[in-house]
Amino acid sequence: MTARKSTARTRTDPKPAPSAPLSVAVLAAGQGKRMHSELPKVLQPLAGVPLLWHVLELAASLSPEAIHVVYGYGGERVREACAGVREACTDENERLSAPATLQWVRQEQQLGTGHALAQALAHIPEQHQVLVLYGDVPLLRTETLRALIALAAPQGIALLTATVADPTGYGRIVRERRGPLRRIVEQADASAGERRLREISTGVMVAPARQLRRYLAQLAPRNAQREYYLTDVVGLARRAGLRVQTLAADDTAEVLGINDKQQLAAAEAEYRRRRARELMQRGVTITDPARIDIYGAVSVGRDVLLDVNVALQGPVRLGDGVQVGRNCIIKNSSIGAGTLLYANCVVNDADIGADCRIGPFAHLRPGARVAATAHLGNFVEIKNSAIGAGSKVNHLSYVGDSDVGSGVNIGAGTITCNYDGVTKWRTRIGDGAFIGSGSMLVAPVSIGAGATIGAGSTITSDAPADKLTLARSRQLTIEQWERPRRAKAVKA
Ligand code: UD1
Ligand code: CA
Repeated sequence: MTARKSTARTRTDPKPAPSAPLSVAVLAAGQGKRMHSELPKVLQPLAGVPLLWHVLELAASLSPEAIHVVYGYGGERVREACAGVREACTDENERLSAPATLQWVRQEQQLGTGHALAQALAHIPEQHQVLVLYGDVPLLRTETLRALIALAAPQGIALLTATVADPTGYGRIVRERRGPLRRIVEQADASAGERRLREISTGVMVAPARQLRRYLAQLAPRNAQREYYLTDVVGLARRAGLRVQTLAADDTAEVLGINDKQQLAAAEAEYRRRRARELMQRGVTITDPARIDIYGAVSVGRDVLLDVNVALQGPVRLGDGVQVGRNCIIKNSSIGAGTLLYANCVVNDADIGADCRIGPFAHLRPGARVAATAHLGNFVEIKNSAIGAGSKVNHLSYVGDSDVGSGVNIGAGTITCNYDGVTKWRTRIGDGAFIGSGSMLVAPVSIGAGATIGAGSTITSDAPADKLTLARSRQLTIEQWERPRRAKAVKA
């Protein structure tokens, strides 16, 4: 369970309440002064994507009627950044695609969270329940929000609170002596006694559109920040005799609001812990969960091992028994069962088959397709090439724009010279060919199946199958040659 109702303060309805249509409002118009950054706060990256994107995904996971995003500071840049992230994060199974019902609402001047919500509310029908999310509270969980919606539904008001060790910066929950909530006081307006309260408002609430409209209209910027505080709605509703239920989040990391770079780093650490925990629950062995970076969708087989400092940037698929050594970076790639990646490999937009041995220090670039049981060794770079089953490229080679058959052996320091400055040409190497060390294969060129290329050759024409081809100048020894001697200096 992620959140619990404070039983002393809330009534539990025995019958499941009929649900009202749900609209989500995401407040994301603020500048985020405390970030001291050119980048609008909601575009600061968490796990490689803007904060706001996490919140939009969360909102979409509830399948609401519509998501209204209030934006302002940073203007169209905010919209554009979130459109771009959509492609980066979407894959066929695990990620949600961006919601079709995303509505952007501009808040011209940032007059406060209450004013921001009022902009969205102009587009939300009377009978809807409204879930308010903040663009800088990205780590909430769907289950927590569902519990909050259930607590409020269909016509009530519910607020997500948390009791935190350090409440600095948050609105404090002020309660009546017997327990019911009275109001929220912002840090800037709180008395010394109120500042000591450790129960805070997460800002996240559910309320009927009708009630929100009524109480937002009553807000006044009579406070230390001269802003229209959304949080004042709670006090106004209470004074009008309405019940405001509270749900306390158990996991305080979940409700972290991100205002500065320290909180951003704390959120990043929490995100990392969460993703590592998820993978461990699926059976992955992680050497050190604090030293691993997992972004995007990752699918794993059984008995996968991820060593220290591995970074996975999804979509990534790892088959059964895959072992990923220290400092490997794998992005948008799949790795077949039983394959071992030794330390320091970089694999990007590549597809590796089963039971391969890769690295240490191998670099697989976009379009590398490596069939089962192949070996790629240290300082080997593969780009836009197919490597056939069981082939070996063990040391210091560049294979680009090539089709390499199966059972091929490519000696140390072989280079496919694929680029003439204008065009990328292909190299074809037939099954079972043997390329001697230090060969230059000047594309376009074909090496026949079973051909052997003598070490140190520069191959500029096709080499026939099953023959030895050499292309290097003959070695000469000059028998009568003598090394020149320096004439002795004569003293005057
Ligand atoms: C807010 C709450 C505080 C709560 C905390 C939780 C208010 C007045 N205070 O404080 O009670 O404990 O969040 O994290 O609501 N925004 C707009 N338009 C504006 C102002 C803000 O869209 O005019 C957006 C911001 O982009 C941000 C969110 O609203 O995403 C919250 O604003 P922020 O200034 O960070 O509020 P806090 O001081 O953190
Ligand atoms: Ca905030």
